[in-house]
Amino acid sequence: MTNPKDFLIEVKDLKTHFFTDDGIVRAVDGVSFNIERGKILCVVGESGCGKSITARSILQIVDYPGRVVEGQILFHKQSSQGNGASQATETIDLAALNPRGTEIRAIRGKDIAMIFQEPMTSLSPIHTIGDQITEAILLHMPLTKEEARERAIEMLRQVGIPKPVDRIDTYTFQLSGGMRQRTMIAMALSCNPSMLIADEPTTALDVTTQAQILDLMLGLKQEYGMSIMLITHDLGVVAEMADDVVVMYLGTVAEKGTVDQIFHDPKHPYTQALLRSIPKLGLRASGQRLNSIRGMVPDPYNRPGGCPYHTRCDAFMPGLCDRIMPPPIQLEDNREVRCLLYGGTDAIPTDASATVKVK
Ligand SMILES: Nc1ncnc2c1ncn2[C@@H]1O[C@H](COP(=O)(O)OP(=O)(O)O)[C@@H](O)[C@H]1O
Ligand SMILES: [Mg+2]
Repeated sequence: MTNPKDFLIEVKDLKTHFFTDDGIVRAVDGVSFNIERGKILCVVGESGCGKSITARSILQIVDYPGRVVEGQILFHKQSSQGNGASQATETIDLAALNPRGTEIRAIRGKDIAMIFQEPMTSLSPIHTIGDQITEAILLHMPLTKEEARERAIEMLRQVGIPKPVDRIDTYTFQLSGGMRQRTMIAMALSCNPSMLIADEPTTALDVTTQAQILDLMLGLKQEYGMSIMLITHDLGVVAEMADDVVVMYLGTVAEKGTVDQIFHDPKHPYTQALLRSIPKLGLRASGQRLNSIRGMVPDPYNRPGGCPYHTRCDAFMPGLCDRIMPPPIQLEDNREVRCLLYGGTDAIPTDASATVKVK
């Protein structure tokens, strides 16, 4: 299979739905994006737009009653051969793997690791942090117990935990929030993954610790060429961290591009509204109101027809946006937007009541 650019992951038309008693929640509904080797991709959007479920789909850890129903997640796995001089690439469709099978379990934690907002979702309160990291290492690496413990100490040192030799035998309740976050990152990195998925990793931290954790992630990218998929609702974090950006709204990608394209020339009215919602320094003092996006994210069981954003959009075109789901429109410089302002209106339905979905 061809891998045109140096993509580590290609997500193609991914759909992950929840089959609940009250109906189907289309949490992820036709999402496509790529993650380049050694780059940071930020996924941004308001709460409930499908960021976490997209990430969980990559690792096949979507909770029941949800499942990946369509699409591909191509993982271009590189393995060094011989003395590391040559690299062989194997392509695995993660979406096609059995969520409980051995193949995906070998990839989880080894090739692709994930960290969460709340470290205690990955750490146990009843084991020392050393035992937990060592166990993760032994699961995926051919090392002895002693070697694994040495590696665990080294990982704690790398994520900036002072005196790791003493700290390794402590329990999570003995650590501050920032230190727990670092421990979780140490565990995630312990098997040298080619990608780290970080789902709102700093949301619960104070600003100083947040800055340190973000710096740590930038270092991982620079020093080890790690790819990072960073999920956040904080555009300040995106501006600081991202190479590429995916803007999500109601389970779809509204717009994607490089960080410069998104910040300096946002095309989608939703991206423009998100950028206007960033608080500006000194605004409160001058008594001005903060901008927030008008209206609410619609109920996931009752998604509007046409463009999912039309109910809140300043550029709403009646008869078009409420009837046509905008196709992905390729703009110059490799960027993409799903909005009828930029094309796609030729698919106007002849039956006025119909909503057409353009692929
Ligand atoms: N277990 C579940 N059952 C039903 N719906 C769910 C479940 N988990 C998530 N969802 C729905 O999937 C959508 C996307 O959720 P999520 O990916 O967590 O959003 P985000 O991370 O962007 O805040 C939401 O509408 C949410 O209600
Ligand atoms: Mg989330």
